Amino acid sequence: MEKLEVNIETVEDRAYPIWIGSGLLDQVAELVNLDKYSSIVVICDEKVRPHWAEKLEKGIGRAAAIIDFQTGEDRKNITTVEAIWHRFMELKLDRKSLVINFGGGVIGDMGGFAASTFMRGVDFVQIPTTLLSQVDASVGGKVGINFGETKNIIGSFSQPVAVIIDVDTLQTLPGREYRSGFAEIIKHGFIYDADYLQYIRSLPDQPLSAEDLIKVIHLSCDIKRRVIEMDEKESGLRKILNFGHTFGHALEALSFSTEAPLLHGEAVSIGMVAEARISQSLGLVPEDTVHLLEHTLKIFELPTRYRADIDRERFYEKLKADKKNVNDEIRWSLLAGVGLAQHDCLAGQEAVEDAINYIQHEKNDS
Ligand SMILES: NC(=O)c1ccc[n+]([C@@H]2O[C@H](COP(=O)([O-])OP(=O)(O)OC[C@H]3O[C@@H](n4cnc5c(N)ncnc54)[C@H](O)[C@@H]3O)[C@@H](O)[C@H]2O)c1
Ligand SMILES: [Zn+2]
Repeated sequence: MEKLEVNIETVEDRAYPIWIGSGLLDQVAELVNLDKYSSIVVICDEKVRPHWAEKLEKGIGRAAAIIDFQTGEDRKNITTVEAIWHRFMELKLDRKSLVINFGGGVIGDMGGFAASTFMRGVDFVQIPTTLLSQVDASVGGKVGINFGETKNIIGSFSQPVAVIIDVDTLQTLPGREYRSGFAEIIKHGFIYDADYLQYIRSLPDQPLSAEDLIKVIHLSCDIKRRVIEMDEKESGLRKILNFGHTFGHALEALSFSTEAPLLHGEAVSIGMVAEARISQSLGLVPEDTVHLLEHTLKIFELPTRYRADIDRERFYEKLKADKKNVNDEIRWSLLAGVGLAQHDCLAGQEAVEDAINYIQHEKNDS
C-alpha cells in the first residue's frame, strides 16, 4: 500500500493522508479513526453500490447509513444537494458525524460540498471509484456543483479527513470511463513532469496490473499534491492544472446537446490538443510538442478531434464563462515545454480560431 500525505500550507492539523492500494475497502476502520464519530453516513454512487457497498460496510465495521444517488453530470446540481441535506436531517446527523463519499467525481464533488456546508461543515472522507476521480478530483479539496449551464461554478475549498483509493473498484468501471481517466494522467505529465510522461508512454498494454495502477495513481496524485500545496486557493501555480480545461469545458458543455456527449476526460483530451495548438501559435512550444501530445492520447485511445459542428457564438459564450477569466478576458493555462506549463496567458482570437479549425480537421486525424 502506498501513502501520500497532503499538507496544505504546512498547517499541521490540515494535513490528510491519501491511501492508495488494493483491498483497502476492507481496511477503512484501520485507515481512519472512526471511533470518534457519532454516526457515519455513506453517500454512494448507485452504480457502485451493487458491486462494492457490502465490502465497504464490512470495512467500516459498524452501523452506517447508506444513501445512494443517481449520478451523471446533470445530477450534480443544487436539487440533488438539497435531497442530500434532507437525508442528513432525517438521519439526524450532528457535527460529530462523518460523511463518506463513495463513487466517482460527481459524488465526491457533490457529497463533499453537501458535507462541508451542512452545519457549517462535517468531516468527510473521499473514496473515489473512477480512475479520473482517483488521480484528480479526490485530491485538492475542491468541492462543488454545476449551476445553470456552468460547470462547478458554485463550490468551496474544503479538505477531506482522508482519501482512500482502492484500485480494485476499477474492475467494474466501464472501459470508456477508465480511458477517460488517462486524460488527466497525461495532463500531469505534460504540465509538470517530463519523466513521468515518459513512464506513462512506456506502460504495458491494458489492462494494467494493480501494481502498475497503484504506481500511476500515486505519481499523479503526488504531482497534484505538490502543485496544490504551493497554491491551495488557485491564486497562481495551481491554475496550470487547468491545461486543456478552458477549451475542454466549453466543448463538454456544447456536446451535451448533441447525440454524442463527451465524458469529462474526453473533452479534456481534445481541449489539450486545442490548447497545445494555441501554445504553438504563441511560440511557446514547437509543433513537435503538439504531435507528441496527440500521439500519447492515441496510445490511450483518447479522442483528439471534435466531429460535431461548433456553434461559434455558444462556444465563445462558454469560454468566457470560465472562472479563471478576469475582466471578460480569457486566461489560458498553456504548455511552455514538455513537462512545463504557464498560466494566465492571453491569446488573440486568431490563435483560438486556428485551434478550433485544427481539432475539427479530419486530415490531421491519422
Ligand atoms: N474536484 C476536482 O478537483 C475535480 C477534478 C476533476 C474532475 N472533477 C469532477 O469530477 C466529475 C467527473 O468525475 P468522473 O469521471 O468520476 O464521473 P462520474 O462520477 O459521473 O462517474 C462516471 C460513471 O461511472 C460510474 N461509476 C463510478 N465508479 C464506478 C465503478 N467503480 N464501477 C462501475 N461504475 C462506476 C458512475 O455511476 C458514472 O456513471 C466532473 O463533475 C468533474 O467536474 C472534479
Ligand atoms: Zn479535469
